[in-house]
Amino acid sequence: MKILITGVAGFIGSNLAKKIIERGDTLIGIDNLSYGTIRNLEPFINHPNFTFIQGDLANPLLLNQTHSDIVVHLASQKIPRYTSALRTLEENYLMLRNVIHKCLQDKSKIVFSSTSDVYGKNPEVPFNEESNLVLGPTSVKRWAYASSKLIGEQLIIANHDEFDMKYTIMRFFGSYGPNQNTTWWGGPQAVFIQNILEGKPIEVHGDGLQTRTFTYVDDTVQGIMKCIYEEKSENDIFNIASDPDEEVCIKDLAYKIWDLMNDRGSIPDIKLIPYSNFGKYEDVLRRVPDITKIKTMLGYKPAYKLEEGLKITIKWQKELFKK
Ligand SMILES: NC(=O)c1ccc[n+]([C@@H]2O[C@H](COP(=O)([O-])OP(=O)(O)OC[C@H]3O[C@@H](n4cnc5c(N)ncnc54)[C@H](O)[C@@H]3O)[C@@H](O)[C@H]2O)c1
Repeated sequence: MKILITGVAGFIGSNLAKKIIERGDTLIGIDNLSYGTIRNLEPFINHPNFTFIQGDLANPLLLNQTHSDIVVHLASQKIPRYTSALRTLEENYLMLRNVIHKCLQDKSKIVFSSTSDVYGKNPEVPFNEESNLVLGPTSVKRWAYASSKLIGEQLIIANHDEFDMKYTIMRFFGSYGPNQNTTWWGGPQAVFIQNILEGKPIEVHGDGLQTRTFTYVDDTVQGIMKCIYEEKSENDIFNIASDPDEEVCIKDLAYKIWDLMNDRGSIPDIKLIPYSNFGKYEDVLRRVPDITKIKTMLGYKPAYKLEEGLKITIKWQKELFKK
């Protein structure tokens, strides 16, 4: 089997690439290194089954030099907290349009990384794949990310309906672990660990009472592997997440990470960053997954509890910090 990963030098892409190469499949990886790093590719960059292409997927000619059975499309702009909504909308659309064009040409399947952010402000948790998608007003630029992923899901399903393009859509719930970007781009675990390593206050956005259900990256990758290799995943949508009882509020996450990195009984300095710092902003108050579908249909079984995943991630980030 020949697989192409877009965004291979990023967090999830590099962890996934390692697993696919270990399995013995041939892999082409593309990245423009805007957020990913060559460091993430180092363990396998010279492997005979791996080819790396550095380039911008918004360029319609880039994919001409590739051919694969499956394209795992991970390259993406994210929530524009510190970045541009226009870039999120335009780049995500252009990249996906080029990837779809290539999949139709090669008759390959697309495995698309959508996000739990598409469930938005729906107050009815847990979210299953048929739940309503409740976004806020378009004047709030953070919804540009979820909107771009929703257009993506719709485009893919429309191309399936009209041209029989095969697909699997994956909705990830906050993944963390080794190779994560150590800025806000990488999520709260990355920032909190980095703040503590640098001896700075822990920066928590909002009041910290918003909840998330985080997924250790090996579990995220386990879910993606099911979506690549299990035939039953074809032409369907799956949440990829931890069990719903892993829900945690962001402030408690900060305390948990502090406790794992410091002496018992010491108290962290938590700095609340008001949402108004990001302009007109809205957050999701509770984000809880229902993973019944991927468990029952594809045999997915998350293996990591939050504390276990955090310990591995902290160890990795500490070593990176020392370099
Ligand atoms: N990490 C999470 O918790 C999470 C949650 C929900 C959804 N997702 C989705 O999963 C995917 C992977 O996320 P990640 O955390 O690994 O992100 P990441 O930023 O670490 O990886 C994405 C990679 O894509 C590359 N890239 C971006 N634009 C590109 C372009 N125009 N051309 C070529 N390469 C480009 C970046 O350099 C980066 O290496 C994304 O689509 C993201 O939206 C991630």
